[in-house]
Amino acid sequence: MIRIGLLGCGNIGHVIAKNRENCQIVALYDQVFSRAQELAGISGGTACSDFDSFVGAEFDYVVEAASVQAARQYGEAALANGKHLILLSVGALADPVFLSNLVETARENGRRVYVPSGAVTGLDNLKVGQISPFRRLLLRTTKSPASLGIQATARQLVFQGKAHECIKEFPRNVNVSIALSLAAGRDADVELYADPSVSRNVHEIEAEGEFGEIYIRVSNVPSPDNPATSYLAALSILTLLRNLDSPLVVGT
Ligand SMILES: NC(=O)c1ccc[n+]([C@@H]2O[C@H](COP(=O)([O-])OP(=O)(O)OC[C@H]3O[C@@H](n4cnc5c(N)ncnc54)[C@H](O)[C@@H]3O)[C@@H](O)[C@H]2O)c1
Repeated sequence: MIRIGLLGCGNIGHVIAKNRENCQIVALYDQVFSRAQELAGISGGTACSDFDSFVGAEFDYVVEAASVQAARQYGEAALANGKHLILLSVGALADPVFLSNLVETARENGRRVYVPSGAVTGLDNLKVGQISPFRRLLLRTTKSPASLGIQATARQLVFQGKAHECIKEFPRNVNVSIALSLAAGRDADVELYADPSVSRNVHEIEAEGEFGEIYIRVSNVPSPDNPATSYLAALSILTLLRNLDSPLVVGT
């Protein structure tokens, strides 16, 4: 049985707490204590009122489903306290200094940092870009204006540029652009559209290289319990946890 600590008890935390299969939630921490208490009631874990008591509990994996700020604030401490780190707020890794410190802390402590596929698919073979660089790598994301926190009455390009710039403007919305960049070994180009006619978050990935061409389109259904969360992102974490100790590893 895998023992985890849940850092962040919001939308994704709820799906994990309700659907966990082969893992035990030992400890929970959220800056809003009542949220940790609520999920402790569902999962049987202990709600912690501060990060130190959370990270001092007996478990092996911190599952971060909080925010880019929380990932930056607590990521290294989690590793330094002997925990592996599963990071959903991947945008934190857009900062090369933070990334390099995090990886070094993981190495020093014999731990690992996991970046789940989250709200997209295809990261497995996009890793070929690390040994055979892509000529082109583009993420085109379309979301409703409300989920981007802006107002728009027609489809509108709200950002065009590099992933590490886009995440600064939209830290809650384009984590996948950083996951994509880390997988492929280069900063992805991003086009971010606000579209009042969409009810789903759509991610399109285009890559070109010596191997040929890739086009992936993911149309994300909201989580059954909470429309603000892409169900795929929560399922992605549950699947990662399910396969962590499997002797059979599928996918690159
Ligand atoms: N990688 C992906 O594909 C992907 C997909 C979806 C969401 N995400 C990211 O996952 C994270 C969680 O998503 P969600 O929909 O569950 O968000 P949410 O807002 O519903 O829940 C986040 C919870 O974390 C808590 N929190 C935030 N900052 C904190 C801090 N510094 N210390 C302690 N607690 C803190 C909040 O109080 C809240 O309860 C977000 O950063 C989101 O952008 C990533």
